[in-house]
Amino acid sequence: MKTLDNNIQIFQKGDSHNLPLIFVHGFPFDHQMWDKQIEHFSKNYFCITYDIRGLGISPVGDGQYTMESHVDDLFDVMEKLGVVKPVLCGLSMGGYIALRAVEREEEKFKGLILCDTKSEADNNETKLKRSAGIKKINLEGIQKYIAEFVPNCFAEKSFEKLGEEYIAILGRSMNSDPNGVKGNLLAMAGRTDTTDYLSKFKIPVLLLCGEYDKLTQADVMRGMKDKIENSEFFIVPEAGHMSPVENPQFVNDKLMDFLERINKS
Ligand code: MLT
Repeated sequence: MKTLDNNIQIFQKGDSHNLPLIFVHGFPFDHQMWDKQIEHFSKNYFCITYDIRGLGISPVGDGQYTMESHVDDLFDVMEKLGVVKPVLCGLSMGGYIALRAVEREEEKFKGLILCDTKSEADNNETKLKRSAGIKKINLEGIQKYIAEFVPNCFAEKSFEKLGEEYIAILGRSMNSDPNGVKGNLLAMAGRTDTTDYLSKFKIPVLLLCGEYDKLTQADVMRGMKDKIENSEFFIVPEAGHMSPVENPQFVNDKLMDFLERINKS
């Protein structure tokens, strides 16, 4: 583990001479959601992940974040580790950060992997849901909010399949700082729409969506794929919104094919 000047908690594994892969987690989780990818890919790639500000063990600070400040944090992580031209991989909120980072400075990246995410900004209905979430945390506490939110991120069959692993993920989310979670809800509600940039992408993009994802529609991701010239899209079978956790074998295989092609280019 490494703590940077900006206090973001960073985790790295693998030989730093290899192609770097940066994994950005979703809300309201932490870097450990990528354990099965990092275990697999650190043999041949330099794997980096970190806890987004306000989540995991990164600092909460004043609890006020924007997607722009999250992208600034990502760029800081890259700069401080001296990482050049990584492949960036983000799930859901991690995908919002990744999409905006590429829109801001595409030349910094060699490729992009988007899991269970979208380019559209929140519509009014989603903004109201974020507000209701903040109210719930204020009135009923973080644990009640997490207990309702997190199960929706998994396919029905995953609870039994993951067992203790699911309990551990739920437990870590329940331990989140309420101000960190609320700050991230506001950051998501206030993010920009990156859809216009999809047709301008020059780097290769891999898109994945869990078969039973209740938060991201597969059709929305298919629509993103249609707009990005050099892209491919796959449905992850037997997985919900947390596809890399729920079906790591399938996700790792698709990542491997994509990365091998990038490594050769
Ligand atoms: C996530 O998994 O990062 C969030 O559920 C995304 C969202 O709520 O928009």
